[in-house]
Amino acid sequence: MRRIYLILGLTICTAASVLQAQAQIPEVEELLSKMTLEEKIGQLNLVTPGGGVATGSVVSEDVEAKIKEGNVGGIFGVSSPEKVRQAQKLAVENSRLGIPLLIGSDVIHGYKTTFPIPLGLSSSWDMDLIKETAQIAAKEATADGINWNFSPMVDIARDPRWGRIAEGAGEDPYLGSQVARAMVEGYQGEDFSAPNTMLATVKHLALYGAVEAGRDYNSVDMSKIKMFNEYLPPYKAAVDAGVASAMTSFNDIHGVPASGNKWLITDLLRERWGFDGFVVSDYTSVNEMIAHGMGDLQDVSALAINAGLDMDMVGEGFLTTLKKSVEEGKVSEEQITKAVRRILEAKHKLGLLDNPYLYSDESRPEKDILTEENRSIARKAARRSFVLLKKHKNTLPLSKDAKIALVGPMANNKNNMLGTWAPTGNPELSVPILEGLRNVAPQAEITYAKGANISNDSVFADKVNVFGPRIEISEKSPEAMIEEALEVSRGADVIVAAVGEATEMSGEAASRTSLSIPESQKKLIRALVKTGKPVVLVLMSGRPLVIEEEMQMPVSILQVWHPGVEAGNAIADVIFGDYNPSGKLTATWPRNVGQIPIYYRMKTTGRPAPESGEFQKFKSNYLDSPNSPLLPFGYGLSYTNFEYGETKISDNKLSKGGTITITTTVTNTGAYDGAEVVQLYTHDKVRSITPPKKELKAFKKILLEKGESKKVSFEISAEDLKFYNANLEFVVEPGEFEFFVAGSSDHQFTGTFTVVE
Ligand code: NOJ
Repeated sequence: MRRIYLILGLTICTAASVLQAQAQIPEVEELLSKMTLEEKIGQLNLVTPGGGVATGSVVSEDVEAKIKEGNVGGIFGVSSPEKVRQAQKLAVENSRLGIPLLIGSDVIHGYKTTFPIPLGLSSSWDMDLIKETAQIAAKEATADGINWNFSPMVDIARDPRWGRIAEGAGEDPYLGSQVARAMVEGYQGEDFSAPNTMLATVKHLALYGAVEAGRDYNSVDMSKIKMFNEYLPPYKAAVDAGVASAMTSFNDIHGVPASGNKWLITDLLRERWGFDGFVVSDYTSVNEMIAHGMGDLQDVSALAINAGLDMDMVGEGFLTTLKKSVEEGKVSEEQITKAVRRILEAKHKLGLLDNPYLYSDESRPEKDILTEENRSIARKAARRSFVLLKKHKNTLPLSKDAKIALVGPMANNKNNMLGTWAPTGNPELSVPILEGLRNVAPQAEITYAKGANISNDSVFADKVNVFGPRIEISEKSPEAMIEEALEVSRGADVIVAAVGEATEMSGEAASRTSLSIPESQKKLIRALVKTGKPVVLVLMSGRPLVIEEEMQMPVSILQVWHPGVEAGNAIADVIFGDYNPSGKLTATWPRNVGQIPIYYRMKTTGRPAPESGEFQKFKSNYLDSPNSPLLPFGYGLSYTNFEYGETKISDNKLSKGGTITITTTVTNTGAYDGAEVVQLYTHDKVRSITPPKKELKAFKKILLEKGESKKVSFEISAEDLKFYNANLEFVVEPGEFEFFVAGSSDHQFTGTFTVVE
């Protein structure tokens, strides 16, 4: 008996010490033991020198002094090995404990090699590609001194009025989770302390994409069932992939702003999901809790640290009030120590505690940034992100010796190619469409005219032009511009019209209530169509647009988002058929703004509208619009056609521990080789909480030569069918499921299987 006790005691003791060993890093503990309360609070402070960088100095006076005093844990807005070395020197050689800084940045879709906006990248449904873009972003950013990235943004967005839909992977929790994982793995690699990997940050925790009315920074109120099933999975996927940090969002959740929300940061993120990294606020989001109505700066800072927030971005509420709160017993020193420990652990992970200058290798930028190879991947990524929305006759692809009239405000434009949140990119280096067409088809005869302003509204243009001239209004009258476009079109075989949104018409603080192509450009399009010549619309935007009118015109439409630094070349590759478009929409395109929010995973309601789309009184439908979207999630055409054969299932019964295989054959029946995204959707027919009409469960992107057939199989386990029930338990309930495999979410179910105990 005694022996058993002893053995048990030993086991418990060993387990505890293993835990201790995992949780505590000796170097970090040693530093912690030397730190004063002020120095601890200093580590929680994240600063940006702002304008100082642009004018050449490393950091503004104030920031410099703060670093020396040990009042800064991290900095962002500083780049280049030299500047980062200087900033680190200030910390390492001048502050009492010499703790190096985290060097942050927003590297959202590429660093200097700008890739398509994230919504575009997600439309490739190509996880290897997405990971590759993140790896390149990490390589370039770390070459420039950055060790901590404020990406991926994984907010599910079902409201295209919200401009930040551009920064994420669209509306679906399953696809969003795959993208989250690919990006985290791409940025962080296998080894945090390798000089070409950086810490990733999953943001914005949480539900930021569900802001009311699509208005940025607005409130969110959502049931936990909806959160867990629809909005939280991508954040969790990033945590499961080992993301090193998380950023809180601006919105409130259940009445408490995210940065002060203990349920969110501590109960859910750390305890339920096991996140062991550090949590940073968004830009001044701690201070903004004052405006939310949560108290004064001392109150909101105490609320945030007690909720589990570790780092305060820019607002300095922590720096200026936490000491007082400790003295008054409102915050414990232990709480502050926990936060500092997490930040020091991140610095340790990065290898900074051993070598503060790990990311300050002056020889790297030239070798690693904007290389030909990186640019070629940007071109590949852009091509794969494009979605062919409409084919008219066989206008596309164009012949390389065609006579082409290239018109539209995006046609010869460098300022709008990179897309929103590309602060490290240089628009001057981007390839405009005119140049791209000439590069790819030197024999083509190309005439050009701008044809229209992006918008004729100068008040609107001023709001959009915050980061530079994105909307330039010509001296010429709108009528004269259209006339010029018609003039250059006269001798052409085909008109290519490059139209859409300026980059800053989407992104942060760029919500819109109209999602149409601006009227100035619509007038141009109408005039072009009237010529009777074949017209191709190359459409740019950071969000789904309302294009019902254009979809009804006799035109072809290629959606290219904001394609990044290789824009023109990639567009030319697709227009001339060197690459067959293969992208699929990751967010539903509505017919009109009144349908929003609209997404494919909707519930059926108790009074579903007829499948035919016909209006019926006392059913869930509109008097003035069909329920169906203009373009569904998962939709995208190709120059070729794909035919789906019969779908077969290995077994109609799926036991809780087993798997079944769903197989179909896809055939390329058209005249071009092409890639298809084969998608599997299921529907849980009966469950304890109302199920969505359909849910994406798996997808594969396959290449098919013309005439080729391939078998595509999906293995499904009961695990894949789980959902969060009313008690927020992750379960699968026995019963019948329907499924289909298709090239879009808009399809009828073709088979069933039953989950058995
Ligand atoms: C505010 C944005 O919401 C966030 O995404 C970004 O990382 C920070 N600013 C820092 O630039």
